Amino acid sequence: MIFVGLIYGLCLSAVKHTAMKTTFPIDEAATKQLGREVYTNEFVPQDYFAEQSLSDLFEREAPTEIDLGCGDGSFLMQLAQQYPERNFLGVERLMGRVKKVCKKAYRAELTNVKVLRLETLYTIGWLLPKNAFSRIHLICPDPWPKEKHHKNRLMQEPFFDAVHALLDDEGEFLFRTDHEEYYDWSAERMAAYSKFATTPWKEDDFFYPKSDFQLQWEAEGKSLQNLRCRKVEK
Ligand SMILES: C[S@@+](CC[C@H](N)C(=O)[O-])C[C@H]1O[C@@H](n2cnc3c(N)ncnc32)[C@H](O)[C@@H]1O
Repeated sequence: MIFVGLIYGLCLSAVKHTAMKTTFPIDEAATKQLGREVYTNEFVPQDYFAEQSLSDLFEREAPTEIDLGCGDGSFLMQLAQQYPERNFLGVERLMGRVKKVCKKAYRAELTNVKVLRLETLYTIGWLLPKNAFSRIHLICPDPWPKEKHHKNRLMQEPFFDAVHALLDDEGEFLFRTDHEEYYDWSAERMAAYSKFATTPWKEDDFFYPKSDFQLQWEAEGKSLQNLRCRKVEK
């Protein structure tokens, strides 16, 4: 009787294991390449030192947007659901968050979402193709509040150069922060940068979802500030 129970238990755990795998299928080739489990919505470059093309990222040609530091992906998911005719790439350095986004995308059956686990500046400066993206979003990035850490802030010229180079001729860069001082610091630098023009951005101009961080800040009574920047020089 104990033996039968044991066999039954083993069968049950095998079935559970198979079910888990079916729930979140892995990319076998990428899993082998990286030596860790890679979900199907994760984008793993064949070569991390070569510029990728859009066709490496997505099978179909479509306007493509990037969400830098996508966190748990709530913003990315909502955009991807609202605009099935566009492609979306999330970039995030934390593995746990990348996995969460991949699982959400798989559950929602979104084939227009990919997630890249990599550092933002490296990704936009070296890995992604130039003149290829219609929109780049930076939502609630780390504000690095201490003055001695301001050098780590993304919103300065080397970042602007890289974003500018990735956008197509009609492309836009959209920035949103809860941190007032970081907003002023960024707006001043953007105003001095000649290759983008800031344009007005009213709430109902287009669908723009709220990210997890935005909801958290709003619950604490904070409001967020936006910059919408159009590419003006090629
Ligand atoms: C404050 S959270 C905001 C997340 C999301 N954008 C939102 O609004 O809910 C910042 C995110 O950016 C990621 N991040 C910070 N610096 C990064 C970098 N240099 N490269 C890639 N991801 C980064 C963090 O891991 C984190 O998930």
